[in-house]
Order: sequence, then C-alpha cells, then structure tokens
Amino acid sequence: MALERTLSIIKPDAVAKNVIGEIYTRFEKAGLKVVASKMKHLSKQEAEGFYAVHRERPFFAALVEFMISGPVVIQALQGENAVLKHRELMGATNPKDAAPGTIRADFADSIDANAVHGSDSLENAAIEIAYFFPATDVYAR
Ligand code: TYD
Repeated sequence: MALERTLSIIKPDAVAKNVIGEIYTRFEKAGLKVVASKMKHLSKQEAEGFYAVHRERPFFAALVEFMISGPVVIQALQGENAVLKHRELMGATNPKDAAPGTIRADFADSIDANAVHGSDSLENAAIEIAYFFPATDVYAR
C-alpha cells in the first residue's frame, strides 16, 4: 500500500448546504488526514485554469460558472491509496449513478452541482495540490 496525497474540493453547493464538517468526518473516518486546507471564492480565471483539461467540453462554461457561484473549501488529503479511496468516498460523477452512502449520493443534486471534486490520478493529484497550495502550506502528519 502506498501513502498518497490527493486534492479535494467541497464545491459551492455543498458549502451552501452546510455539510463541510460532515464531509470532513467521512475523510477522517476513512483514514484520510487533512494536510492542507482553505476556504476560497475562486476567480473565473482560477476555475478555468483548474478545469483547463475540460475546456473543449460542452459543459465547460457552466462548470466554471458553478464553481465561482460561491466559496469552496479546498484540501489536500493524505493516506494509504488516498486517490482511489477519496474517489470511492465521493461516488460517481452523476449522483444518480453514485453508490448509496457516498458523498455525491447523499449531498449532490445533479451531475453539474455534484458536491465534491477529487483528483483522478496520482499524477493529477500532484499538479492540482500545487495549483492551490505552495509546498510550505502542505503539512506532513
Ligand atoms: P469529470 O472529470 O468527468 O468528473 P469527476 O468530477 O467525477 O472527476 O468532470 C468534471 C466535472 O465536470 C464534474 O464533476 C461535473 C462537470 N460535468 C458536467 O457538468 N457535465 C458532464 O456531463 C460531465 C461529464 C461533467
């Protein structure tokens, strides 16, 4: 088993629902440690840069508008197999397909307002953590 870090975002819909603590509890109960954390209202430029890989997709403009519709909570999580473990906690992109008990099944309303983001690979996790946190703001625990 490998100790990994992954990037997690609690999106504006979940922040508005006041479930930040419930989502953090799920991370902690699964053995994931918060090693960096901040609340931030993303600028359009920051959201576009973060989701640049999706810029040609039809949902890109709506995704960016959603991500800047309110503050988000951004964290780096550390643990054994953190990337996959966090994806399992999140559930499928479309909450209609998300397994019962996952974050998206419990808190997401739709595929475009789907409560959380999580890195999809170890390589992207490193890029995404560095996008939001200087190395000095990520704490070994
Ligand atoms: P994606 O990387 O495919 O999903 P995930 O967040 O599970 O890694 O897509 C990124 C985000 O784009 C997704 O969380 C919500 C949004 N999105 C849509 O709004 N409509 C869509 O059809 C898809 C595939 C994604």
